[in-house]
Amino acid sequence: MTYNLLIAKGEKEHYLLSKMSNRHGLIAGATGTGKTVSLQVMAENFSSIGVPVFMADVKGDLSGISQPGTSTPKISERIEKLGLTDFKFSGCPVSFWDVFGEQGHPLRATVSDMGPLLFSRLLNLNEIQSGVLSLVFKIADDNGLLLLDLKDLRAMLQFVGDNAEKFTTEYGKISTASIGAIQRALLTLEEQGADKFFGEPALEIGHLMQTDNQGRGIINILVADKLLTMPKVYATLLLWLLSELFENLPEVGDQDKPKLVFFFDEAHLLFTDAPKILLEKIEQVVRLIRSKGVGVFFVTQTPIDIPDIVLGQLGNRVQHALRAFTPRDQKVVKTVAQTFRTNPKLDTEKVITELKVGEALVSFLDENGQPGIVDRALILPPKSQIGPVTPDLRMKLIRQSKLYGVYEKVIDRESAYELLKARAMKTSEPKEPSILYQKAPSPKTQERRPAKKSDSVLESLAKSAARSVGRELGRQILRGVLGSILGGRR
Ligand SMILES: Nc1ncnc2c1ncn2[C@@H]1O[C@H](COP(=O)(O)OP(=O)(O)OP(=O)(O)O)[C@@H](O)[C@H]1O
Ligand SMILES: [Mg+2]
Repeated sequence: MTYNLLIAKGEKEHYLLSKMSNRHGLIAGATGTGKTVSLQVMAENFSSIGVPVFMADVKGDLSGISQPGTSTPKISERIEKLGLTDFKFSGCPVSFWDVFGEQGHPLRATVSDMGPLLFSRLLNLNEIQSGVLSLVFKIADDNGLLLLDLKDLRAMLQFVGDNAEKFTTEYGKISTASIGAIQRALLTLEEQGADKFFGEPALEIGHLMQTDNQGRGIINILVADKLLTMPKVYATLLLWLLSELFENLPEVGDQDKPKLVFFFDEAHLLFTDAPKILLEKIEQVVRLIRSKGVGVFFVTQTPIDIPDIVLGQLGNRVQHALRAFTPRDQKVVKTVAQTFRTNPKLDTEKVITELKVGEALVSFLDENGQPGIVDRALILPPKSQIGPVTPDLRMKLIRQSKLYGVYEKVIDRESAYELLKARAMKTSEPKEPSILYQKAPSPKTQERRPAKKSDSVLESLAKSAARSVGRELGRQILRGVLGSILGGRR
């Protein structure tokens, strides 16, 4: 069943079509013009038709979506103006997530999950250093050493650095200077507190795609105010989430409604001095994730911060007011005005600067995927509360969540750090650094079992299991996370 979601009214009513919501969207406008509330209205609508939503809460003002709103004079006026006769306040089911584990379920990834490409971005590495990091991942993989948390990566870097000469023969140039640079960058990342993000239990992507017992889509809110103080980490994290969705979800083609809608706030950060290869991958993920049933809505102050090639894929648009104080502003306004399907009755360029708060130029895709004629329209008021909930209420909601307890406790399983430490204690010099383990006879099992020294069969089984797990992760690493869609960059 398809749904027409009423989002705004102008010359006519503007419906976001559920079956066109995987064709992505854009919410843009200067600060304070109504972007967050527009996002809120869209998210409420998706939730109500059973579509789970993911959003980052960069200003800390989205938690109110969990509570019914209240009637204020402004809201009442809007309800009346829009002639919404059956308007009822209501809240949505939410899950809070927090990389720092303070205001939501801890959201974690393993180092392997993130892969060398995105990790290089996190560490701000140059091309050569990034190449070395890829080799470090590969060496870990070849040796069945799991890279789960940052101490695994640190131990692995140390190990490769100590044996750089030997590894260079087998893997190609590994300069200790690059290793040193990566280690320093890693230290900075840890000092910023990003170490909390890496480890287990790592996020199971399915946990972002849940409905409640009334069939409403759960709205996942990533608490991001603190995270946003590290813009690159923030952007890389969200990109990683998108790539995980892309990698893990099956191809479904166009559907009646999306499986998940992903709002990417402060989207320009994704593109700020991103290397070309990353830009290409972002563009591809955005293009291809559509057939996995995921709709991506970018939220940003000025749409021209988003590369044309990505912008061109954002079919559903809500453009709030832009300022036109400086010549540069004016140029932006002009460019943005030209991206809409023209309406002869509307001077788009002029109107953009005149829009009131909660008013926008709206153009959604129609049944045939054609952008609607642009219209000046008033966005509906949200049914949920505008602004945050109290910290107490937030904690209560977290504890009530079905996911409470799944991620709260860190698991520190045997991985590169433990194995290398044990190894360093046992042997002095590695004879063959690239083969830390004897090759197990036949890796039949995927089961992860701790090695028991007393039982040699068990031991080799466990090792082979560790190897194959390493391989499995390694496969992903080789693909460079987003690499599979690029095919053969390596
Ligand atoms: N559709 C709407 N219905 C009712 N009130 C609205 C609507 N849109 C905006 N408002 C009012 O305007 C205020 C500012 O809107 P909002 O927070 O969405 O702006 P913003 O563009 O996200 O700003 P910023 O760039 O600072 O994040 C809201 O707190 C709300 O009071
Ligand atoms: Mg906002």
